[in-house]
Amino acid sequence: MREVLLAGNWKMNKTISESIELAACLKQSISGSSKVIIFPPFTALTSVYDVIKEGKIELGAQNMYFEEYGSFTGEVSPLLLADVGVRYVILGHSERRHIFGEDDILINKKVKAALKNDLRPILCVGETLVERQEGLTENVIERQLIGGLDSIMNAAALKVIVAYEPVWAIGTGINAKPEEANSVHKFIRNLLNKNYGGNLGEEVTILYGGSINSGNIEELGRMEEIDGGLVGGASLDCRSFIEIYKKLERAKSTVAWGE
Ligand code: 13P
Repeated sequence: MREVLLAGNWKMNKTISESIELAACLKQSISGSSKVIIFPPFTALTSVYDVIKEGKIELGAQNMYFEEYGSFTGEVSPLLLADVGVRYVILGHSERRHIFGEDDILINKKVKAALKNDLRPILCVGETLVERQEGLTENVIERQLIGGLDSIMNAAALKVIVAYEPVWAIGTGINAKPEEANSVHKFIRNLLNKNYGGNLGEEVTILYGGSINSGNIEELGRMEEIDGGLVGGASLDCRSFIEIYKKLERAKSTVAWGE
């Protein structure tokens, strides 16, 4: 079901004590109606869960392998993540695709494994700068989305959250123009409608990610097709993440959203 959502991807940052401190600060200050999910590093998941378990913030992991258990040294499974209180998992992040060579076939296996184990995947899609300059944005998004969701039935697909994260906007300080991001989100909704029949595209939550900060979230949040944000750098600081949250709430309260 479509919902307003703010996600904080802490990436490879924060020791356990720093994670506890940030989670405690967020827990104290987040009280609105929009959903918040934080994605600490694996080493801090259990400690952060202990801090947030009785509040409204939910816990996510930044990646996982698709097998449930076995001889896969260095990997973490959906089963093990669920065991420490994780309910969401980021899959297909551009850093996984481009630094660690993950392809759509592997990402699709992970999406299916997450769903099977009751974890909600946040499937990331997005074009590089070169692909954008060559006019390939829609081709790339289509390949990543349809590949990532291959052989997933309607009911399960509804549980997937999509994040549009243009690679050129990640960590660069240059966010996509709200209208541009909005039109890619619309393209994603249309693709989902076409692929699944009916209006699944209207019901899936789609986040924008890439250099979100407290100065641009309101304008992005006012866009009808943008349901929220996946924040990297600005999620590492309690005050800035809370400011983003409040501004997203304000933006969504002034939009005829999800109708
Ligand atoms: P930044 O917000 O630092 O650009 O990172 C975005 C991102 O990759 C979130 O997953």
